[in-house]
Order: sequence, then structure tokens, then C-alpha cells
Amino acid sequence: MEVFEAIQSRRSIRSFRADPVRREDIIQILDSARWAPSWKNSQCPRFVVIEDVGIKQGISQTLTRNRSYLSVLTAPLLIVVCAELGKSGHTGCDPATEKGDWYMFDSALAVQNILLSAWSLGLGSVVIGLFDAPAVASITGVPEGFAVVNLIAIGYPDEWPEAPARRPLEQTVSLNRFGDRFTL
Ligand SMILES: Cc1cc2nc3c(=O)[nH]c(=O)nc-3n(C[C@H](O)[C@H](O)[C@H](O)COP(=O)(O)O)c2cc1C
Repeated sequence: MEVFEAIQSRRSIRSFRADPVRREDIIQILDSARWAPSWKNSQCPRFVVIEDVGIKQGISQTLTRNRSYLSVLTAPLLIVVCAELGKSGHTGCDPATEKGDWYMFDSALAVQNILLSAWSLGLGSVVIGLFDAPAVASITGVPEGFAVVNLIAIGYPDEWPEAPARRPLEQTVSLNRFGDRFTL
């Protein structure tokens, strides 16, 4: 699938068929994350592939009032995205306290690679950010010095949702000065 087509057609998929994801596809998807850009190539993201049903159930309990609660339980592939702290860059305001605070950004770039490569292989996915990250760290044995960033449920789609609307381009882009009209 061509990149722009994958970007536009990808949807968050929360309902999955039971078919397992092929091992070589899992490897390819995770390899695409490895090739994401990162601050000074510091490569802070780490990934835990969850196969154990008990662990999956434990993780699902950390989602409250989340429409992806069942997705975690039913997705054939669940990835916990983590990041090594103190490795990525900082915003420069206070390097002493903010060292490494770009780990969310580095992780998000890796996550987008995962979503798009999964989609191009016919696999749907959903990013999950609303859950108890310290609880998931404890369940999955993520050590100190690492943060749990998000979850990704992946599997063959069992739903084909409409695209949620996006703001028109002219409302998101300015020319030269913020808010000045960028003519299409
Ligand atoms: C940082 C982040 C956190 C998200 N957290 C959740 C979540 O906890 N539960 C959920 O169902 N969807 C979650 N989503 C998916 C968004 O709701 C979804 O991407 C958005 O509605 C746009 O739909 P689309 O992905 O189909 O284009 C999250 C997405 C992002 C980027």
C-alpha cells in the first residue's frame, strides 16, 4: 500500500477477528518501529508483546470507562509501548528536571510506524492512552527508569468505521505568522 493511501485510509479499529497475527508480520511491524526517527537517534522506545492471556486480562482491568476495554481482551496482538527515561532530549527550560522529556514524542513516532505498517498488512489497530500506566508497568515487570507510554491493540478488523472528521487544512496551516491565511 502506498504511504499516503495508508495514512488517509487508516482507522482506529476496536473490534477484531480472532485470527492470529502471523509471526513474520509481528516482526515486520516491530521492525518498522525500530526505524523511526528519535532525538539524536537515542532510541528510547521499548515494546512488550503480550501473548499471555492472564497478563492481557490484568492489563484490561487498568482501563476504566474506555471504549477499547474489550479491544485489549480480544485483540490477538497487544503491544505495551515503553520508553527508557533520561535518554531522549529536553525542552531546554530546565535540563536538570526535564532531561529526557521528549520520550513521548520519540515513542509517538515509533507508534505511528506501527499503526501504518500494520494497516498496510491488512491489520487494524487502536492506540490506547487512557489506562493506569503504573499498574501496567507493575503487571508487565517494566523496571524503574522506564515509563509505560501507551498500549496498541492489533488484529484483523471486524469493523470498518467511518473516518472521524478532520479540521480542514486551511484551519490547521498558517502562512508566515500564526493565524495568517494559507491559500490552498
Ligand atoms: C495519544 C492517543 C491516545 C488514544 N487513546 C485512546 C483510548 O484510550 N481509547 C480509545 O478507544 N482510543 C484512543 N485513541 C484513538 C483515538 O480516539 C483516534 O485515533 C481518533 O478518534 C481518530 O480516529 P482514527 O484513528 O480512526 O482516525 C487514542 C489516540 C491517540 C493518538
